[in-house]
Amino acid sequence: MDVTIKVKRFDPEAADPQPFWQDFTVEIDDKGTVLDALIKIREDNDGALSLRCSCRSSICGSCAVRINGHAGLACKTQAATAIKDGVITVEPAGNMPVIKDLVVNFDGFWDKVMEIDPYLKPEGEEPEAEYIASNEAMLHLSNVTACIMCGSCVSDCTVMEVDPTFLGPAALAKAYRFTADPRDGDENGVSTSRLEELTKPSGMWDCTRCMECVAACPKGVAPMDRIMAMRDQAIDAGFHNTNGARHTEAFSDSVEHSGWLDELRLVPKSVGMMNVSALMGYAPIAIQALTHGKMPPIIHHKIDKAENVKKIFDKVETPKKRR
Ligand code: FES
Repeated sequence: MDVTIKVKRFDPEAADPQPFWQDFTVEIDDKGTVLDALIKIREDNDGALSLRCSCRSSICGSCAVRINGHAGLACKTQAATAIKDGVITVEPAGNMPVIKDLVVNFDGFWDKVMEIDPYLKPEGEEPEAEYIASNEAMLHLSNVTACIMCGSCVSDCTVMEVDPTFLGPAALAKAYRFTADPRDGDENGVSTSRLEELTKPSGMWDCTRCMECVAACPKGVAPMDRIMAMRDQAIDAGFHNTNGARHTEAFSDSVEHSGWLDELRLVPKSVGMMNVSALMGYAPIAIQALTHGKMPPIIHHKIDKAENVKKIFDKVETPKKRR
């Protein structure tokens, strides 16, 4: 099978070091992967093409690139399924500086992983023998420990694109691996000090739930779901006094009691009723909404049959209270 790959190239040592696109057509096996095609290009067309790979089996995580605009493992993507309008576009992973061609610098990625203290931190008294962890608890962690640190989630994270200080989906999913481990934290497995750190700005509450990391992850880790679970852990551990926790509670209270969102009161309840300086920051948006006829109603009425929405909340909340 002939396949045309459009590769984004970059050579920092070129006379004019600007990124550019270059097309290559190579012959690969019908079941060949995008990585097979890239290796063929390097072998037959241009030995200077830089890329990372090792296992060719979705294990080492080194071949993450953007294929047709979305992050993924080149060794896991069958070329035949990736052809769009006759070509496959391949570019370096996003949100990390490009070193050369498809090779990016992972220093920032690892710095963030190190920031969450990626090791167990028991806070209670040391047990007399080994730490006991149930099979069930370990099975629950098997999903998140499947992460191969390929950086696909970081590449496509829309928050990191605008806020490089955000810890990001990989580091936060890694943090969940510890907050959900019964051997971490106090004798009840509650990682209080770890959760406190993670509720600070740039942490768990900065995720906007765009789902890109879930779509990009080649191992089904679903980092965003782990971040949401960690938010629950933080609220359960008593960390209510953050913008994120207040926002979640205000949102859910409003929908539970009226059946829909009270947008007018959401902002003051999220940032804090007495937080005048933060509230003033929202004044331009409020004025814009007012002048464009988008101001939410001052009196927030219940929707018809709001009690049915309440019943859904009761159904979801009851098993939680029983735990
Ligand atoms: Fe190891 Fe692709 S080469 S994951």
